[in-house]
Amino acid sequence: MPLKARVGIIGLGTVGSGVLRLLAQQGGFFSSRLNIDLTVSAVSARSAESLDTAPAGAYRTTDPMEICARPDVDIVLELAGGCEGPLAWISAALRNGKHVVTANKALIAAHGPELFPLAAKYRRVLAFEGAVGGSIPIVKTLQESFVANDIDGMACIINGTCNHILTEMTDRKIPFLDALKEAQALGYAEADPTLDVEGMDAAHKLAILAALSYRKFVDYREMSVTGITQITPLDLELAGESGYAVKLLGVLEPGPDGNLFAHVYPALLAKGHPLASIHGVSNAVFVKGSAAGSHILSGPGAGGLPTASAVVGDLIHVCRQMGNNLFSEHTVNCMPREEKMQLVPIGALVSEYYLRFTLNDIPGAIGEIATLLARYGISINFALQKVLPGRAGVTILILTQKSRELDVRDALAKIHTFPFVAGKTQLLRIYR
Ligand code: HSE
Repeated sequence: MPLKARVGIIGLGTVGSGVLRLLAQQGGFFSSRLNIDLTVSAVSARSAESLDTAPAGAYRTTDPMEICARPDVDIVLELAGGCEGPLAWISAALRNGKHVVTANKALIAAHGPELFPLAAKYRRVLAFEGAVGGSIPIVKTLQESFVANDIDGMACIINGTCNHILTEMTDRKIPFLDALKEAQALGYAEADPTLDVEGMDAAHKLAILAALSYRKFVDYREMSVTGITQITPLDLELAGESGYAVKLLGVLEPGPDGNLFAHVYPALLAKGHPLASIHGVSNAVFVKGSAAGSHILSGPGAGGLPTASAVVGDLIHVCRQMGNNLFSEHTVNCMPREEKMQLVPIGALVSEYYLRFTLNDIPGAIGEIATLLARYGISINFALQKVLPGRAGVTILILTQKSRELDVRDALAKIHTFPFVAGKTQLLRIYR
């Protein structure tokens, strides 16, 4: 007897239409080999035009709540994005006994602690592979394949828009705003691109990965989140000449007293590091498992079809659980609100730093900076002076040895009182 599952889809944007395409392409295989017959029984979209693309026979509506209440829907795919609406729809769907698949990272990061207990209470699955890293199977890797591991650390590139922008700025020496416009035209950026470029989209995803890795709720609002808007082609050039690539990273490291270092920031990576060669819209997760060792998972991190691939994978995962009558409260209950992880403040970081100063060219300026840094216990690894055409003053690049972030910040505050400092100093961390 084939398992019959009726699917309701909320949202027919790039991901929703990708899902319809994959179901049309793979439906025969699902039916003949997996014994799973899927029917799209209801669809909601904002516009009548989008609804025209729904499969023949599917009920059509502009009200997502209808999808969550219909008796002919077993599994709801929430692919609309945003937070308020999806929270109400998914909660209603779970209460009405539907399983839910979503790719909504902002929702899972902010409301996971309410939604997972609700799913467990109604014995329904809430699956979210598409929420992090597009088609990269990182959620299942952490929930299933690596379940016997403690996670010793993770560094990830989880915003395709930022990675694309940094790649284009590096390769073509174009300014940030030009590269952003191109990324938007290619459809990678969120509706509000500040979520991407200010790092918040990556913070949502990092919070989900942190919860999966450390099995407690991690609040993205407590992370230090820095995006890429202040990165210039000059930084990328200087980093490149020194043997580094610049990437927007989400970093997880277990800290003292059971606390967690979980922050998002642009960082220099030695060109030999596996994450340094992740280009364009690709995402990658570098994860250290206590038993499994170090792994890198990489692939397309944004775009309709890659995300749709993860959503349809989840859909089949849900069907298999329905077939076994096995509703996996153990796998979904990954973000209990009552067990929250405290974060190690970013000021406690000990790292090497990239410091780019803009100075008026007076004798002794570099000496005064070096002396001041030494007073704060900051040792210099590498220094370079450049006079750049069309740029006032001189550019000084200093790469430090390992130093405490608070000391570096205090030193910079002092340096900024020097009369020969002619511009804001750029500070970037070096990830090893
Ligand atoms: N705007 C997101 C990104 C899309 O650029 O990675 C996928 O979540």
